[in-house]
Amino acid sequence: MIGIDIEEISRFKKLIKDKKFVERVFSKEEIKYCSSKKNSLQHFAVRFAGKEAVWKAINDRKKNIVITDISFKSLPSGKPEVYIKNKKVKNIEVSFSHTKSTVVAVAILKQK
Ligand SMILES: CC(C)(COP(=O)(O)OP(=O)(O)OC[C@H]1O[C@@H](n2cnc3c(N)ncnc32)[C@H](O)[C@@H]1OP(=O)(O)O)[C@@H](O)C(=O)NCCC(=O)NCCS
Repeated sequence: MIGIDIEEISRFKKLIKDKKFVERVFSKEEIKYCSSKKNSLQHFAVRFAGKEAVWKAINDRKKNIVITDISFKSLPSGKPEVYIKNKKVKNIEVSFSHTKSTVVAVAILKQK
């Protein structure tokens, strides 16, 4: 199963200033990671796209999972790993990419 999402970064300019939105949608680790970056908006936006991509990849199987259950932690190499309800998920892989205006995320649910 596969999921993809693309987002315009401009859409997040206002949203990211809303502390309630940020704390509802992103984990503490994600907020720390993105806030530490020079262009934090694109890191937030790509994680939002990543949550949607993961949701698309899994939604036929896991009806009880919502977007805000999905989060990412980045390894020291930069590779993001997937967490659902704060538990590491080994059978879902994601890949993120961003430009100044656009972000894209792909998720693959590996079959067992
Ligand atoms: C890691 C790398 C692939 C990122 O590519 P990029 O074009 O700079 O940036 P992109 O916008 O496409 O991707 C950024 C995302 O890649 C992901 N990423 C970073 N390191 C990664 C890794 N080791 N494995 C998987 N994904 C990684 C991250 O999710 C990052 O987004 P985030 O910081 O918001 O989490 C790149 O910096 C790199 O090191 N390439 C190696 C190629 C090389 O050797 N080039 C030099 C010779 S030309």
